[in-house]
Amino acid sequence: MYPERIELNGHRFRRFLTRQQIAAIVERLAQQLRRDYAGVTPVCLIVLKGAFVFAADLLRAAGIPCRVETIRARSYGTAMHSSGRVEIQPPELSLAGADVLLIEDIVDSGLTLRELLGFLRRQQPASLRIVALLAKPSAQELQPQPDYIGLEIPPLFVVGYGMDYAEHGRYLPDIYALEEPEQGNPTQERTSFAAVDLSQTAE
Ligand code: IMP
Ligand code: MG
Repeated sequence: MYPERIELNGHRFRRFLTRQQIAAIVERLAQQLRRDYAGVTPVCLIVLKGAFVFAADLLRAAGIPCRVETIRARSYGTAMHSSGRVEIQPPELSLAGADVLLIEDIVDSGLTLRELLGFLRRQQPASLRIVALLAKPSAQELQPQPDYIGLEIPPLFVVGYGMDYAEHGRYLPDIYALEEPEQGNPTQERTSFAAVDLSQTAE
């Protein structure tokens, strides 16, 4: 077990979701996918790099026959906020006529998702749905919304379970949230650990 508090790249983080809590969220999403994709063989499109751990667990938990492909979307660079620019590295597999399920780790501003959806729609898939493990409040203004959201969280910066801070922390089995205000931005409010309602993870 990793400690409750960790330091990554000079920043302090505190455990926010345990692996057991994450597993419960993933199981609930997997059940929804099993129900909605019965009889369909989707192309599960993993958004790299952040969604690789989530996708590995989700696909095994769902157990639906599918093809797997990756797409690379980069918006963060090394900062904790979106750079405002999204680079897309397209998949090799043709998505024309496919039932595409886009697997994303976390939706913040929604910019990445918007760019990905624009790109994917041009490939003319038969259907296109989005599953995101986490969504921040800013994602609520996003159109369209992800079809499946594991958990809505406060506007925290999180790492672990595939998600990184400047490429650090992806290997952590639990999810950690930043404890301190971002350096160089003293006006920003202290990130709070406002209780997250985990009851929404129950079926
Ligand atoms: P958006 O474009 O602002 O919605 O940001 C989406 C992408 O930024 C996600 O796919 C993540 O890779 C990354 N991201 C957003 N919030 C966080 C976070 O709290 N920790 C780590 N990565 C994040
Ligand atoms: Mg991502």
